Amino acid sequence: MTKKAGGLAGIVAGETAISSAGGGHDLDYFGYSIYDLAENCIFEEIAYLLLYGKLPNKTQLSGYIELLRSKRDLPQTLKDVLERIPANAHPMDVMRTGCSFMGNIEPESAENTAIDVANRLIATFPAILVYWWHYAQNGKRIECQTSAERTGAHFLTMLHQKERSTLNARAMDVSLVLYAEHEFNASTFTARVITSTLSDIHSAITGAIGALRGPLHGGANEAAMQLIQNFSSPEETKEGIKTMLANKDLIMGFGHRVYSEADPRNHVIKEWSRKLCAEGGKEVLFDISEVIEKMMWDEKKLFPNLDFYSASSYHMMGIPTPMFTPIFVMSRVTGWVAHILEQRANNKLIRPSAHYTGPATQKFIPLEDRP
Ligand code: COA
Repeated sequence: MTKKAGGLAGIVAGETAISSAGGGHDLDYFGYSIYDLAENCIFEEIAYLLLYGKLPNKTQLSGYIELLRSKRDLPQTLKDVLERIPANAHPMDVMRTGCSFMGNIEPESAENTAIDVANRLIATFPAILVYWWHYAQNGKRIECQTSAERTGAHFLTMLHQKERSTLNARAMDVSLVLYAEHEFNASTFTARVITSTLSDIHSAITGAIGALRGPLHGGANEAAMQLIQNFSSPEETKEGIKTMLANKDLIMGFGHRVYSEADPRNHVIKEWSRKLCAEGGKEVLFDISEVIEKMMWDEKKLFPNLDFYSASSYHMMGIPTPMFTPIFVMSRVTGWVAHILEQRANNKLIRPSAHYTGPATQKFIPLEDRP
């Protein structure tokens, strides 16, 4: 018998040892609480954990940071491709093309293993985005190497062409930790489906980027900022949200498929948003966000997900709104790779069945006799 499940909600679609989310408990990566990881770790520790299955010791971590740093520069052919992408392209499309093109010039092979490809993509994604951005905006060809050790600070430094504050750099690091992995979300599942056909890693990640782009998934952080920016005061916000709720509009950055009362990652990112808005003297942005949060809970019992306060946090780091979802890619690539490796280790083609709702068997009519 076929069971119907809208959007596969509540369906267990496989096993994973990488992370667990929802079902009454908070989020863990390999059994480590997201709260401990966000408080104590840098993003590179999480990338290492997701790729190699354990937290690095000091020597392993410094070796890993150096490895990533050595892989940052972009091949000239990729720069040429990036220079041809128009300025009005969406940055997520730039990430998708950048990843796909890397699959042409540095394909996965016995000498360039999935782990090698993964580290190369982690190291190059920030430059793929920012190189294109500066070239498209003002024809400037930036250096793809900086003195920053960490991926988050490296990205911010390339974007602004100067170092940002320590608070900005650490907030970006925490954000990358929080975005790194989340069980069988839509983009990860996409990567697993592609992997299950025995396809290559660039194809799986390129497909995952496509799935992440939509506003019901990663695109929500960009959409949340567009919403918040519509309002200039808490009073105006109340009126605006009231109207949107009356119109049954979706409020981006709220709700979640696997959590029913709160997104654990929100507790962390909200406090960073508070600090960043205070540092930048833009408390009103935080106040507006809190008004939306309160109204959504009072009216709909909906809570902010990670995307909601990420939006104001990134805005306060001076990041252009269309770049918000690509930052998600820079981090989530680590989770995607963990799932790609896990899928390969115990592969079975992912090919579900569908409940047929079309017409009953029909008599075929030759072309010349059709009305
Ligand atoms: N704003 C307004 N209403 C919302 C909502 C939101 N952000 N999220 C859910 N709802 C409403 C739905 O309209 C639905 O109402 P109904 O029962 O009257 O039809 C109800 O809450 C249940 O939502 P549903 O869409 O069935 O839940 P889902 O599990 O399919 O969807 C999301 C989960 C994340 C896709 C959904 O909450 C959403 O669209 N959120 C906004 C986009 C977003 O922030 N995505 C990032 C997720 S990390």
